[in-house]
Amino acid sequence: MDFKCALVTGGGGGIGKALAHELISQGKKVIIVGRTESKLKQACKDIGAAADYVLDTGVVSEIPAFVRYLISEHPELDCLVNNAGVQRSLSVLDMAPEELLERADQEIDINARGPMHLTLHLMTHFKQKPQAIVINVSSVLGFAPFSLINLVYNGTKAWLHFWSINLRAQLEETGVKVVEIARPTVETDFHRERENPDDNKKDNNPNAQSVDEFIAEVRRRLVNGDETIGTGMSINIIRQWDESMGSVFTKLRT
Ligand SMILES: NC(=O)c1ccc[n+]([C@@H]2O[C@H](COP(=O)([O-])OP(=O)(O)OC[C@H]3O[C@@H](n4cnc5c(N)ncnc54)[C@H](OP(=O)(O)O)[C@@H]3O)[C@@H](O)[C@H]2O)c1
Repeated sequence: MDFKCALVTGGGGGIGKALAHELISQGKKVIIVGRTESKLKQACKDIGAAADYVLDTGVVSEIPAFVRYLISEHPELDCLVNNAGVQRSLSVLDMAPEELLERADQEIDINARGPMHLTLHLMTHFKQKPQAIVINVSSVLGFAPFSLINLVYNGTKAWLHFWSINLRAQLEETGVKVVEIARPTVETDFHRERENPDDNKKDNNPNAQSVDEFIAEVRRRLVNGDETIGTGMSINIIRQWDESMGSVFTKLRT
């Protein structure tokens, strides 16, 4: 947690706003980005973020220019929180391929390509710092894809999980640390496209965490220096993955 200044994607609402608030309360300078300017302005006012910028992280062609501007305005930037994400309900039986593909491609752009492009365009800058940190917000569904309606989402989060593992391994001799927060269901508006948008609320899902419960656990685990952070019901699933596939990775990695 020895960084000075963080960029939080999707910081205008949900967990991004809560994580940004948490970092600000720990004395960090925080910059937030998102697609909706009004949400960003309101969040800035609510939590005291240092700056906000409109950026669709899924439009990766805009990322190089954005990163150049960002670094020139905030040269102390030494933390990237890849939090922005979307979840689409997709059915291979009920949807026309064109519609499904359009929504799936956008989901892949936002959940996988955006974090990768932001990270790689910031890497030269981060490697010049004594230390820097990339925090990727993945999901328990990237470890066990049990929510079947998320035909593509689960794969984007599995991709983020594997990307985090390999990025961490390639950077292990540098000062750049890679942390993954593998979330369980948390009570936000994330399920807004579902038939029941409140199916991630505690009343409907006993495994859901409140935002405050989630942030309290993340705070403890970040301070502890954990590299893969599970909270609530994701702790046990991550442990099982670590004990089986994690140990295979450690043994066979070349
Ligand atoms: N909630 C859950 O149960 C759950 C579980 C596991 C993992 N996660 C992950 O946690 C992260 C945050 O989710 P959340 O629950 O906080 O969702 P949320 O309440 O929907 O907030 C997501 C935020 O991301 C922003 N965003 C979405 N697409 C963006 C894009 N292309 N470019 C920039 N900003 C974008 C949104 O802002 P705009 O509206 O302005 O686009 C919004 O502020 C996501 O990566 C999600 O996959 C969520």
